[in-house]
Amino acid sequence: MNAFPKNFLWGGAVSAHQCEGAYDIDGKGLSIADVTTAGSRNCSRRITDGVLDGEDYPNHYGIDFYYQYEEDIKLLAELGLKCFRTSIAWTRIFPQGDEEEPNEAGLAFYDRMFDTLRKYNIEPVITLSHFETPYYLVKKYGGWRNRRLIDFFERYAKVVFERYQNKVIYWQTFNEINHCKADSDLGMWLAGAIQCGEGDHKAQICAQAVHNMFVASGKAVICGKEVNPKFQIGCMIGYIPYYSDSCNPEDVLATMKREEEDYFFLDVMVKGRYPYYKLKQYENLGIVIEKEEDDDKIISQGVVDYIGFSYYMSNVYGTDRSKLKISSGGILQTMENPYLQSTRWGWSIDPAGLRISLNRLYDRYGLPLMIVENGYGAYDKIEEDGIIHDDDRISYFKAHIEAFKQAVLEDGVNLIGYTPWGCIDLVSASTGEMDKRYGFIYVDKNNKGEGDFHREKKKSFYWYQRVIETNGEIL
Ligand code: BG6
Repeated sequence: MNAFPKNFLWGGAVSAHQCEGAYDIDGKGLSIADVTTAGSRNCSRRITDGVLDGEDYPNHYGIDFYYQYEEDIKLLAELGLKCFRTSIAWTRIFPQGDEEEPNEAGLAFYDRMFDTLRKYNIEPVITLSHFETPYYLVKKYGGWRNRRLIDFFERYAKVVFERYQNKVIYWQTFNEINHCKADSDLGMWLAGAIQCGEGDHKAQICAQAVHNMFVASGKAVICGKEVNPKFQIGCMIGYIPYYSDSCNPEDVLATMKREEEDYFFLDVMVKGRYPYYKLKQYENLGIVIEKEEDDDKIISQGVVDYIGFSYYMSNVYGTDRSKLKISSGGILQTMENPYLQSTRWGWSIDPAGLRISLNRLYDRYGLPLMIVENGYGAYDKIEEDGIIHDDDRISYFKAHIEAFKQAVLEDGVNLIGYTPWGCIDLVSASTGEMDKRYGFIYVDKNNKGEGDFHREKKKSFYWYQRVIETNGEIL
C-alpha cells in the first residue's frame, strides 16, 4: 500500500499556558508559567517570586484563546484538522493543586472546548501537564521533589479522566518530561518545576523528582485504563537525534551516552523499569532514590500505549564539549552541523533526521508513534498585498512530511498522527516571545504586547489544507 492510512491523524498542537491567557479568570490559580517572564532570542526568561509589578508575563494573556476558542476551532476545522493537541491547565481544575474538590468553572471550560472540537469532528489529544505545574505546589511542597505531588497529580488525572471519558480518547501524561535534567535550570523548572539553591545536590534532587513523575505517570495510566479501557495514553519526550562529531570511536561512545540521557525516560515509561545504565550511573554518582514499596510495580504496570514526541532538530555531540553552545534560554546545548542550515534561533533544519528518529524509536520500542510537535519558528511579515507569504515554513513542512512519509511507506514505521506545533501562533516556551511564530494562522500580537489578537490565514494555511485534503498525496 502506497498511501497513508485513511484514519491518519493530521492535526495541529498548542498548549494551554501558551495560548489560553485568562490566567486568573474563573478561579484559575497560578501555574509555573505565570511567574516566568518574557525573554528573547538572546535573553533567558526569568522565574520570579510570585507575580511582580512591572514584569512582563506573556502567558497571562497568551493569544486570548480562552475567549476566542470557538472562532479558532472553526478556523482549525476549515484547515481540515482531524485532531487537535492541547493541554488542560491543571490550575483551572485545581487552582492550588492540593484541594480536595475541583473547580467547576475550570472543568466547564474544557467541556465547552471539547464539545466544540467534537462538533467539527476534531479528535482532542490532551496532555495532562504541559509545563503547567501549580505554582502553589512548588512554593509549599518544593515541586516534584516531594512525593506528595504524586497523589495530587493522580487526583487531578482521575477527575479529568472521569469528566471527559466520553469526549477524549488520546492522552499524554507529561510534556517533554526529558527536559527535567540537572544541567538545565530552565528545563528543570518548566518540565518539573524544580528550583535548586546554592550547594544543593542538583542531580540527586532532579533524579528524585523525575522518579516521582514516573510514578505519577504510571498511576495516571493505571487509573485512566480503569475509567475507560479504550483510552490511549502516551508519554511525550522532546526527541533530538544525535550524530557523532566524528567517526572517532570515542566521539561515537560519548554520543551514545548522551542519547541515553533521553532514552532513559522512554525506557522507564515504555518498558516499565529503570535501565541498567541509569542504575549504574546513579550508583557511581552516589544518587539514591527514595522509593515506596509499590513504586516499581506501578512503573511496570503503568506503561504507555504509544510514544508522542516532538521533533524540531538534530544535534551533534562528541568528546570536545567546547564546541557546544547554549541556546533556547539555557534548555539546549547545540553543536553546529556543517551539513545543515539553522533557523534564526539556532535550531538545525534536518528533515532526514525525522526519518532517522522515527526508525530509531520504532526499532527500539515497537510502539505506535505520534509526532506531536514539529515546526518552523520564524519571524513573519505581512507583505504589501496583505498576505503572509511564509514560503520557508511551507518548504520546512514539505520536507519533513516527505521524510515521515518515507519512514511510513518505505521503512514500515507505525506512525499514527502528526500535529505540527503552534498551528496557530502562540507564546514561545523557551523565550516567551510572540514574534517566534509557528502558525498556519497569524495572531496579531508582538513581543511588545502590541496588537489586537485578530487572526489571519497565512499562505501555509492553504498549503496544509491541501495536504490534509489529499491525505498527504500532494505536498
Ligand atoms: C517544545 C514544547 O519544547 O517546543 C513547546 O513542548 C514549545 O511548549 C515548542 O513551545 C517550541 O519551542 P519554543 O521555545 O520555540 O516555543
